[in-house]
Amino acid sequence: MQNAAIVTLLSALAGPLLIAHSVCAAPAGAARVAVFGHVDKDTVEIYTLSNAHGIEARIMTYGASIVSLKTPDRDGHLQNIVLGFDTLDPYLAGVPYYGATVGRYANRIAQARFALDGATYSLVANDGPNSLHGGPRGFDKRVWKADATASRNSLKLTYVSAAGEEGYPGQLTAHVTYRLLEDDSLIIEYEATTTAPTPVNLTNHAYFNLSGDPTRSILEHKLTINADRFTPVDATLIPTGELRAVAGTPFDFRNEAVIGARIDADDAQLKVGRGYDHNWVLNAAQGNVLRFAALLADPVSGRVLEVRTTQPGLQFYSGNFMNGKQAGAGSVYGYRTGLCLETQHFPDSPNQPAFPSTILRPGETYVQKTVLHFRPLKAPAN
Ligand code: GLA
Repeated sequence: MQNAAIVTLLSALAGPLLIAHSVCAAPAGAARVAVFGHVDKDTVEIYTLSNAHGIEARIMTYGASIVSLKTPDRDGHLQNIVLGFDTLDPYLAGVPYYGATVGRYANRIAQARFALDGATYSLVANDGPNSLHGGPRGFDKRVWKADATASRNSLKLTYVSAAGEEGYPGQLTAHVTYRLLEDDSLIIEYEATTTAPTPVNLTNHAYFNLSGDPTRSILEHKLTINADRFTPVDATLIPTGELRAVAGTPFDFRNEAVIGARIDADDAQLKVGRGYDHNWVLNAAQGNVLRFAALLADPVSGRVLEVRTTQPGLQFYSGNFMNGKQAGAGSVYGYRTGLCLETQHFPDSPNQPAFPSTILRPGETYVQKTVLHFRPLKAPAN
């Protein structure tokens, strides 16, 4: 039999097997991609990035979201350290921002409006009187397009947000690139351009639980934040404009502190946030320079996550609104079983002239980068 005939015969016999093979185990260097579901006419794909140490990030095109992220504990045991779901349905049912890329404006804009170049723009209020995370259908609820250059360790996603979408001016072309490096870091790079001046603030909303056990609360995790100040908020979580010193408050994470140690302290800011749900002003945040933002450590699993960023702020959210009852979720995540470290510009910047500007103009390129580095906790010296 000719070779070609053998191949034809084999593929006829093993057709489904070969198809499954091409989906799950692409040749070295190529992207691993599978279909995760559908949104109307759009197919949602899920990509698997991996490195030689077994670190594996699964990212889907719905919301350009991190669905799972496996990293080793101190014994090399790989477990998922972000909360997510096995199917698309809970995401479509509206679980809040799990692993998603949030935009056009991450965090809150007061009274769902802002003025820019003399015009006033109205957004949709979806968080009391305010706009939260880009509005009711922000970037987390859009199907992004994966670039054909996707590989075993890199994926670039693009979303074109129409002028006027969710009330924002200008057509915004946004890119998010995920790269998983052999030094055990996941790099998240953002880029955007616009056809008219617009506020832009992009972040990732992964809920971390370094224990790998999502039934455990995150209160025993230890956190360091490289910030001398934070932005206190009013009753609707809008910054008052003050940059307040963390010294002497439960917001002081300049030295490593257990998250649960002061979370229920008698403190007016903790009361309005129902825990931590605040923006820290990162130190030495001058220009677009990558620098240390936060260190999260779980003493039980021995996992450490270090966050570096070019962004000026970090929203630390301690999962205070989690209640185990999210609509459509196959497995439900309880109170404070995940925490977010959202590198970003400060909340409500479009209405707060003293905050670093979030306005992008035609001809400029918005560029931000966040690096998540995974490593084991050093064993305590005997
Ligand atoms: C953010 C906000 C929180 C909350 C969560 C989602 O991080 O700051 O107040 O809305 O998203 O539940």
